Amino acid sequence: MRVILIGYMGSGKSSLGRRLAKALEIPFLDSDAAITRQQGKSTSEIFETDGEHFFRTLEKDFIASLDKSGSFVLATGGGLPCFNNLMDELNALGTTIYLKHTPQNLVRRLTVAKGKRPLIDKHISSGNLLEFIEDHLKGREKIYKKANFIAPSWMLKPHQIIEIANLTQKK
Ligand code: S3P
Repeated sequence: MRVILIGYMGSGKSSLGRRLAKALEIPFLDSDAAITRQQGKSTSEIFETDGEHFFRTLEKDFIASLDKSGSFVLATGGGLPCFNNLMDELNALGTTIYLKHTPQNLVRRLTVAKGKRPLIDKHISSGNLLEFIEDHLKGREKIYKKANFIAPSWMLKPHQIIEIANLTQKK
């Protein structure tokens, strides 16, 4: 079984993914963690020194490097599906689940976790985070909505996601 969690920054992909993988007893993969381990730098440092375009190439290379026949739960970076046609590749790879939150909810979640996200931190300091997210999410949701399943924020317990993954299982 391959389950792929997608969604905006701060939507809980990594923490849910870790619990889900544990419950399913299959490996947990995290694109940001794999990239930062490989580069020896945080995502913020990669954005700063190498630029976003380079980071998107690393995301593409990471997806290309996956063992496409093994089982795993994959938590993707928030922008990963939105570049280089990776949403279509993710849909071919396994069951994709979009963890959907309202912009207001994302503001709350991102404000407590500030300091880690290069695309967000400047908007937290300038106080226009809600407007930024509303606008940014509008563009990204067109892609996120291609997921096999949209999980609203009240449906983010591992057993619920396991049920969805079982129902929509492809291989
Ligand atoms: C990004 C999301 C981040 C990380 C990078 C860019 C994005 O991951 O990949 O900072 O473009 O949405 P999280 O979604 O885990 O915060």
